Parts: sequence; C-alpha cells; structure tokens
Amino acid sequence: MDRKSNVITTGIAGFDSIINGGIPAKSQLLLAGGPGTGKTSLSLQVLYNAANNKMPCAFITLDESAESVLRNFKSTFPSLKDIDVLIQKNMLIIDGQDSAAKISANTESETNYSLGNLVSDVEAIIKTIDAEFAVVDSLSFLKLMVGTGILYSKIVCSLVSNLRRLGVTSILTTDIPYYSREKIKFPQEILLFDGLIELYHLNGEGKEELAMEVIKLRGQNHDRKLYSYEITDSGIRFK
Ligand SMILES: Nc1ncnc2c1ncn2[C@@H]1O[C@H](COP(=O)(O)OP(=O)(O)OP(=O)(O)O)[C@@H](O)[C@H]1O
Ligand SMILES: [Mg+2]
Repeated sequence: MDRKSNVITTGIAGFDSIINGGIPAKSQLLLAGGPGTGKTSLSLQVLYNAANNKMPCAFITLDESAESVLRNFKSTFPSLKDIDVLIQKNMLIIDGQDSAAKISANTESETNYSLGNLVSDVEAIIKTIDAEFAVVDSLSFLKLMVGTGILYSKIVCSLVSNLRRLGVTSILTTDIPYYSREKIKFPQEILLFDGLIELYHLNGEGKEELAMEVIKLRGQNHDRKLYSYEITDSGIRFK
C-alpha cells in the first residue's frame, strides 16, 4: 500500500495509472463483468500482489471451491505459482465454499437463515488472518439462489456495511448479462459501492477483445475510457 496517498496499488500492469495510483484504502468496489471476462482471475491477482506487499488478504469464494480457484489461478498464471507460499505464510486465505454449500443445500426458510450467517462467515474468514483486503466472488451466486429481489438487496447491503465497519478494503464481483456495451444496464447494487468497474467482451472485425471501464470511483480521479486488457501467463495486463 502506498501509505502517503492512501491507496492500495494493484500491481496489475497498466491498471494503477488508470485509477490514479490504486484502489482507495477501505473502499468497497463492485467488479462487474460478462462471463469469462476474468473477474475471478483479476480480483485474485490483485490480492496475490497485495499479499506479496505484506498485506493479509482473504478471497471468499462462493462460485467455486477453494481448490478449483487455486488450480485455475495456477494454470491461468503459471508464472505466479508461489501463491502457495503466501497461503502457507497466512498472508492469503481462500475459503468460503462451506457457506455456499449451506445456502445451496437448504430449504427456503433455512436459506434465509444461512444467508444471514453468510455475513458472519465472511467476517470469520477475514478474522482468521486479520485480512485488510478481501474479495467476495461472486454476488451472482446469491442471485442464483434467491433472485434479485429484496432478500438479495438486504444481504448485499449487510455484507458491504459489515466490510465497511471492519475497515477492510474489498472487491465484490458480479456478472452482467452481455448483449452489447451500449445496452448494458448498470447493476442495481451500484449505489451501495464506492466504485464500479466493468469488464466487457468486445467484438470487432471478427476478433474478440477484452476491455475495462471505470464507471465510478468515489473520492478518486480516474480516466473514463475503454481500456483493452489481456490475460497472459504472468498476469492480466492493460495495453
Ligand atoms: N492462460 C490463459 N491465457 C489467456 N486466457 C486465459 C488463460 N487462462 C484462462 N484464460 C481465460 O480466462 C477466462 C476465465 O477467467 P475467470 O474465471 O477469471 O473469469 P470470470 O469472469 O471469473 O468467469 P465466470 O463468469 O465463470 O465467473 C477464461 O474464459 C479464459 O478465456
Ligand atoms: Mg469467476
């Protein structure tokens, strides 16, 4: 973390300059993107870099098992294999699938109860290593379980409020149905967050490209352009 300017550098090539130095410390960001745009990879790479900079980090996975997240990270980014060392040193924890399993296995009334428990489960994972930076991947899992009604809004609201109360910088991921960028509606959760970053698939001249746009970032200047990025063996990089 750059303590002078109070931002956390992401270490993602080309990304920090787009957001004027890094992610504002203790802010809550929503990372929204189409399927396979790299939400999991990008958010875990940000934690990997922060943990390497001596900041304890927690990756809370609801979509996939911790084993699968770790395996995919290693196969996507073969140059970043020392992620195991960060886990052994308690600088990085990947956990959360037990909560997801409880939510998906329960009946409707039990599901409401286990959704309430999700907030305390997330807090418990964070406290295991006193994490200062957390990712919750993803809110799409909750949408799948309970739809996008009032219950979903309440659980996201209490998750975000609790992360704010704990003073943990966080990134929560969600999907956006992809048609074309012009037709995308902003996710309904946007008002709860300090920042919104969107990832897109763009089609042009028969070639598919990945691109990122910072829609808002409270208290921080940032560029408002579309930036292409690629997923490489050594990490995500912006062009
Ligand atoms: N070594 C690699 N080089 C280039 N691209 C890769 C590599 N490994 C994986 N990918 C791409 O990364 C994408 C998956 O990234 P990731 O799982 O982070 O996306 P996501 O947005 O979290 O997906 P989901 O919508 O399933 O949650 C794959 O669809 C694949 O296109
Ligand atoms: Mg994912």
